[in-house]
Amino acid sequence: MKHHVLMMGSGTPEMAARLAERFTVHKDWEAPGLEGILDAHADNIVAVATFGATGIDAPTMARLPALQVISNYGVGYDGVDVPAAIERGIPVSHTPGVLDADVANLAIALMLAVTRRIVRDDAWVRSGNWKARGNAPLTRSIEGMKVGMVGLGRIGETIARKLEAAFDCNVSYHTRNRRSDVERPYHASLVEMAAAVDCLVVITPGGASTRHLVNREVLDALGPEGMLINVARGSVVDEGELVAALAEGRLGSAGLDVFEDEPNVPEALVAMENVVLLPHVGSATVETRRAMGNLTVDNILTWFDQGRLLSPVPECIHMMPAHDAGT
Ligand code: NAP
Ligand code: 8YV
Repeated sequence: MKHHVLMMGSGTPEMAARLAERFTVHKDWEAPGLEGILDAHADNIVAVATFGATGIDAPTMARLPALQVISNYGVGYDGVDVPAAIERGIPVSHTPGVLDADVANLAIALMLAVTRRIVRDDAWVRSGNWKARGNAPLTRSIEGMKVGMVGLGRIGETIARKLEAAFDCNVSYHTRNRRSDVERPYHASLVEMAAAVDCLVVITPGGASTRHLVNREVLDALGPEGMLINVARGSVVDEGELVAALAEGRLGSAGLDVFEDEPNVPEALVAMENVVLLPHVGSATVETRRAMGNLTVDNILTWFDQGRLLSPVPECIHMMPAHDAGT
């Protein structure tokens, strides 16, 4: 008899097809939905593959007595209650590395869209303004811009390198730990870095430890000419303060791929011309989602074949067989 796998939130047909070769697959976005699946199959579900934005909470885990492994389809796993999983002896995996280039490209696309007013000027053509009113107003350049990275991990480093190589940007960074392998200027104080740069790019994990890291003081330090780009998690920026700073002209502009209460976006932001808004699509290319989907499935298969995960989240590395620890 096949074991059962629960896919939560979203996943590609390719992921479902690969899993179906070994397991009976349930997708909670199709009928009968999560409740119906749990009512009928909870006792047989041995693995969960969950979309980053969906995650899995402790009460749902508690309804799955046979659950052995959770595979997060995304690098950010703030939606998964990892302590609850560890308490049950259930390891969690994620998809680091395979999405760095496309998320970095989207962050830079947002920087270009905001500075060059791509959305406004597309509308300028479509609305007939070009004929009726003449040339669109001038925009700003990212060439040589001073950029402060809030987070300089896998994706942050990729963004920084691309900005330096392609746009000659002057990149500094803020993290909790200074990197010994990086020569860029380090700022232990995020407020000080914000005051020193033209643009902040936020690319930390979400969750309690980064909640509202970008607060009113940081936004005010960035200032009326400053630009905020957030491709991390909505929770990292105090969205109420961001709206107020933009509305009052204390912050110049913003490019946002993530929001505090997705898919709900404050109406005030929707009305602003100096803001570009995207529906959390940093990794959403066919190529990258395929790579993420394959790693999500490979983690599950490797768990059942070899009793280990290819890419456990850091908190679960100690649950891997001894020879994997620290690798
Ligand atoms: P990573 O390699 O783990 O890097 C995380 C970086 O954030 C590190 O430099 C870390 O340095 C820093 N950081 C962590 N906590 C911090 C804090 N409290 N204050 C300042 N810096 C902090 O992660 P990654 O692979 O680059 O991914 C980063 C995040 O991007 C993910 O967790 C996810 O939330 C987000 N993401 C979004 C999309 C999208 O579609 N928009 C796609 C992929 C990922 P220290 O540990 O030294 O502080
Ligand atoms: C996904 C992401 O869209 O990997 C992440 O952390 O944010 C994106 O790649 C996410 O898994 C869906 O919420």
